[in-house]
Amino acid sequence: MKVTVIGTGYVGLVTGACLADAGNSVFCLDVDEKKIARLNAGEIPIFEPGLEAIVRRNEAAGRLRFSTDVAASVAHGDVQMIAVGTPPGEDGSADMQYVLAAARNIGRHMAGWKVVATKSTVPVGTADKVRKQIEAELARRKSKLEFAVVSNPEFLKEGAAIEDFMRPDRIVIGAEDPKAVALLRQLYAPFQRNHERVMVMGVRSAELTKYAANSMLATRISFMNEIANLAEAIGADIEDVRRGIGSDPRIGYHFLYAGAGFGGSCFPKDVKALQRSAAEAGRPLRVLEAVERTNEAQKHVLGTKIRNRLGNLQGKTIALWGIAFKANTDDMREAASLVLIADLVAAGARVRAYDPAAGHQAKKMFGEQTGVSVVDSADAALEGADALAVITEWQEFRSPDFAAIKAALKTPAIFDGRNLYDPAVVKGYGLEYFPIGRKT
Ligand SMILES: NC(=O)c1ccc[n+]([C@@H]2O[C@H](COP(=O)([O-])OP(=O)(O)OC[C@H]3O[C@@H](n4cnc5c(N)ncnc54)[C@H](O)[C@@H]3O)[C@@H](O)[C@H]2O)c1
Repeated sequence: MKVTVIGTGYVGLVTGACLADAGNSVFCLDVDEKKIARLNAGEIPIFEPGLEAIVRRNEAAGRLRFSTDVAASVAHGDVQMIAVGTPPGEDGSADMQYVLAAARNIGRHMAGWKVVATKSTVPVGTADKVRKQIEAELARRKSKLEFAVVSNPEFLKEGAAIEDFMRPDRIVIGAEDPKAVALLRQLYAPFQRNHERVMVMGVRSAELTKYAANSMLATRISFMNEIANLAEAIGADIEDVRRGIGSDPRIGYHFLYAGAGFGGSCFPKDVKALQRSAAEAGRPLRVLEAVERTNEAQKHVLGTKIRNRLGNLQGKTIALWGIAFKANTDDMREAASLVLIADLVAAGARVRAYDPAAGHQAKKMFGEQTGVSVVDSADAALEGADALAVITEWQEFRSPDFAAIKAALKTPAIFDGRNLYDPAVVKGYGLEYFPIGRKT
C-alpha cells in the first residue's frame, strides 16, 4: 500500500519506518528542512532503540523516503497519516495549527480519493475541523473529490516505540466510512497476527480514548506520588505499599511507581488539553486538576530534600544522573530534571549533569548558562560534587559502584527521584539515602 506520513518526529518516523518494514511504500514528509536533510544523509534525528536499523534497511530497499515536497507527498499515499505535533497553546488547549496546515495541504493537492488518518493526539471534534479544511481547499479548486477522515490515535511509548508499533495492545480506528475502515484494517493486518487488535468506534470516541488513556496513566502516577509523600511522613514504605496494592488484579502493578513527577511530551500537555476541552463542554474534570497540581508540586520534592539536607546550596555542586524525562529516550520535554536544575541553580548550586542519550541536546540547551555543565559520563558528573541526585531510570544507573560514589562526594548522600536502590545496600556503603516515600 502507498502511505504518506506527515511529520517525521517521534511518532511519524517510527510509524513510517514500521509501515515500510511491513512492505508498504512510505513517503515521509516534514516541513523541517534540516531534519529531512539529516534523514537523507543517513542520520536518525532522535534516539529510539531499534529505529536506525529499520530506517536503513527500508531506505535501502526503496520503500521509505524523506522529503519536504508537499505536492509529491499528497500524490503518493492513498492513506495520508497526520503525525505532526500538537503542543500546548497558551491557554493549555492543544495547538492545532500544524494538524490543520497538514489538512489544507492535502486538500490543495489531492487528485483522487484519500483516507486522511490523524495519528496526532487531538481534541474531540478535530476530525470535523480537518474535514472542513480539506473541503475549503477543494471548493477553492472547484473540485468535488471525496475523501474519508479517520481518527487513528497512536499509543506508542518513547523508548519502546518500535515494539509498541510492531505489537500494539490495540489499534483504535475512529471512522464512519466502511471503505476507510477496510483499508486501515489491511494496513494494520501485519501487526496483529495472533489476534485481532483493531477496535473500530466513532470518531469522537477514538479521539477521547487517547486523552483518557494518558490522563488515567498520569492519574496513577500523581496518586502514587501523594501516597509516597504520605508514607514518608508517617513511617510507611511506598515500595511495600506498591506491591501490596499492585497484587490486586483490579489495580495491577503497572504504572504505580512513585518518583519526581511525570514529564515528557505527552502526559503534561494531554492532561491540560483534556481539562480544557472538558471545561469548554461544561463538564470540568476536577480529578485532572488535582493530578496536574500534584505533579507540579512533585517536581520540586527532590530539590527540597537536597536543600533540607545540605542547607545553603551557594557554591555547592550537585551531580545529576539523567536529564531525559525517562530512560531510553533523548526527549527532555517537560522533564522533571529541568525543574530540579532550575531549583538548584536558583538556590546558588552548580549542577554537573550526565545523560546517556539526551546529553548532546542538553549541551545545546544549557549552552553557556552559568551553573549547569553537561558532562560525558556518570563518573565525570561526580567530580567535585557535594552530593548525587538521580532523576532518570537509565539501566546504567541501576547498579553503580557505591564505594566510588562515596569516595567522590563531599557529603556522601544520594537523592533518588526514581527509587532505584535498596536503602539497606546504599546505607551499607556509608552513604545517606533520600528516595521518594521510602523508609530508610
Ligand atoms: N511522542 C510520543 O511518545 C507520542 C506518543 C503518542 C502520540 N503522540 C502524539 O503524536 C503527535 C506527534 O508527536 P511527536 O512527539 O512525534 O512530535 P514531534 O515534535 O517529535 O514531531 C512533529 C513533526 O511534525 C513536523 N511538522 C509540523 N508541521 C508539519 C506540516 N504541516 N507538515 C509536515 N510536517 C510537519 C515537525 O517539523 C516535526 O518534525 C503529537 O500529537 C503527540 O501528542 C506522541
